[in-house]
Amino acid sequence: MIEVIKHIDDQIDLISMKNEQLEVVVSNYGCTIIKVIMADKNGHKDDVVLGYDDFTQYQTLDAYLGALVGRVANRIKAGQFRLNGQDYHLAVNNGPNHLHGGIKGFSYQVFDYTIEDEHTLKLHYLSKDGEEGYPGDLDLTVIYTLKDDTLTAHYQATSSADTLINITNHSYFNLSGHKENIYQHTLQIHASQFACVDSDGLTTGELKDVEGTPFDFRQPALIGERVEQDDEQLKIGKGFDHPFLFDTQSNQVILTHEPTGRQLIVSTTLPQAQIYTANYLDGRLGKYGERYYARDAVCIETQNMPDAIHLEEHPTTLLKKGETCDEITSYQFKVIQ
Ligand code: BGC
Repeated sequence: MIEVIKHIDDQIDLISMKNEQLEVVVSNYGCTIIKVIMADKNGHKDDVVLGYDDFTQYQTLDAYLGALVGRVANRIKAGQFRLNGQDYHLAVNNGPNHLHGGIKGFSYQVFDYTIEDEHTLKLHYLSKDGEEGYPGDLDLTVIYTLKDDTLTAHYQATSSADTLINITNHSYFNLSGHKENIYQHTLQIHASQFACVDSDGLTTGELKDVEGTPFDFRQPALIGERVEQDDEQLKIGKGFDHPFLFDTQSNQVILTHEPTGRQLIVSTTLPQAQIYTANYLDGRLGKYGERYYARDAVCIETQNMPDAIHLEEHPTTLLKKGETCDEITSYQFKVIQ
């Protein structure tokens, strides 16, 4: 069942998508995933994503809790790029670089929406030519579907001119229900390479094999045994804040919290994910009166290569006029015994 459960104001709503296994609350503001409520192996329900009780925090703060991120997720060097012989200047909002679509990226925009049927919510946003410095009118449709224990996000975009796109969702997962940090969460990532970053978090273009490093999650490993290791890239990122390049085309990331039996399986058409261990959460007030700190959650941001426009010969983030960007990421919230 899908129903509107709250009007935040005359434009912004909270919408509940619910079945016997899962309740997902989303907002048409930034397509934000506000809550994901699931049972543990004993039937006890908890909310497994971070968020805010006070809605204005989504509108004013910068950690992108639960938000859809775009036009281009992650950083673009110096907020500049050249396309078809023209220079474009984007908002610089993260040190010397452009981050997550700029000052008022998609995370901070109101989408119009329709409830299509009992499983399907369709959201839509038209981003105007020049918005945050990007070329082209970009027409974005986001379809959230809830079936059984799986939430699927389907992104489709077209543009009136060649432009850049790299859409992701920035949910902060904590399968314990935020009863503890993520040290006891087991992570498995089917990725034999990761991308290095510099001290501003910008991808450098260097790819490294995970073999023999704390980044090797090809076999499941506890995040707590890895994230504080003495490793140059972990120090630069203040933890994991790196793109992992997938070896497989489905079920690429599996996050498990053994004590509760909760497991999240992420499957995507995209080639990689930024794995981010909430390194910059700073004690801000979150849902249920709790404060959020570094390592309180992990983000699994499926996407193309950050700063692809500067690093790739044929940038995967280029959306040509007349073409359609079409990507799907699904999140299966399982209970294992
Ligand atoms: C980035 C981090 C950033 C965080 C919150 C992540 O996707 O990789 O460096 O701090 O988002 O903005």
